Amino acid sequence: MNKRKSIPNFIQMMEDGEKVTWITGYDYLTAKYEERAGLDMILVGDSLGMVQLGYETTFPVTMDECIEHCSAVRRGAPNTFVVGDMPYMSYQISDEEAIENAGRFIKESDCDCVKLEGGTPLIVERMKAITGAGVAAMGHIGLTPQFAGQIGGYKAQGKSAAAVKALVEQAKALEAAGAWAILVEGVPTVTGKAIKSVCKCPVYGIGAGSQTDGQLIIYADMAGFYDDFTPKFVKKYANVGEVLQNAFAEYVKDVKEKKFPEDAVHAYKIDPEEEAKVEKMIEDMKK
Ligand code: KIV
Repeated sequence: MNKRKSIPNFIQMMEDGEKVTWITGYDYLTAKYEERAGLDMILVGDSLGMVQLGYETTFPVTMDECIEHCSAVRRGAPNTFVVGDMPYMSYQISDEEAIENAGRFIKESDCDCVKLEGGTPLIVERMKAITGAGVAAMGHIGLTPQFAGQIGGYKAQGKSAAAVKALVEQAKALEAAGAWAILVEGVPTVTGKAIKSVCKCPVYGIGAGSQTDGQLIIYADMAGFYDDFTPKFVKKYANVGEVLQNAFAEYVKDVKEKKFPEDAVHAYKIDPEEEAKVEKMIEDMKK
């Protein structure tokens, strides 16, 4: 049985050079298996919109949807550190709304911390407000889907010295604003290394190379479940989509061919005398 880790555990892991493992999760069953596999953290990402709810982007995802899915993950993984991802426009508008929504995440879904995308001065202010209110929060910079309109889509970031300098400044500002960790997404390895070199807090990566304190991956990508698009940084560990599709197709074939259910195996038993009475009743009812 895992014991739920806390932020001091993650700081210690960074100091010991032990990598932190996390995967996204959005539902009770997947979270249960993630916990059984011994993950350190689960992120209930707003990628929920794309990989579970069928939206084209993460923009339509609401606080209520995030809370509902995060609560299900908590029920599936009661002993794992869970990160709730603040959806688009749930924290940008004002410090008050940011605190209220971060507070809702903690109160209503029992997650352990929240994550905010972006490193602009406004987001740094919101980070300060949220952490000032006592909510543990993590920053997320680099390829930040909530900024896709500004960064030209889902493109790797931090690919020039000037761009790396800007990301380094964002990471420093978020840490100074109280972020206990920074997640870096979609940057070259050296960019991840540069950000790591200026932060005292843990720096985690998703598509940020090997030099960070831990690795995140999207569950539906690594499990071979989401096949609309596969980022370069994904390694596939399974082919769940194909396994399920084959299972569904086999079921369809079995039912059509009257091979399922088999009454001797998949049906409830009845006392033979009662069965005979029911059969007679059926015959009588036909008359
Ligand atoms: O929503 C999400 O899953 C994320 C990761 C891509 C970092 O924010």
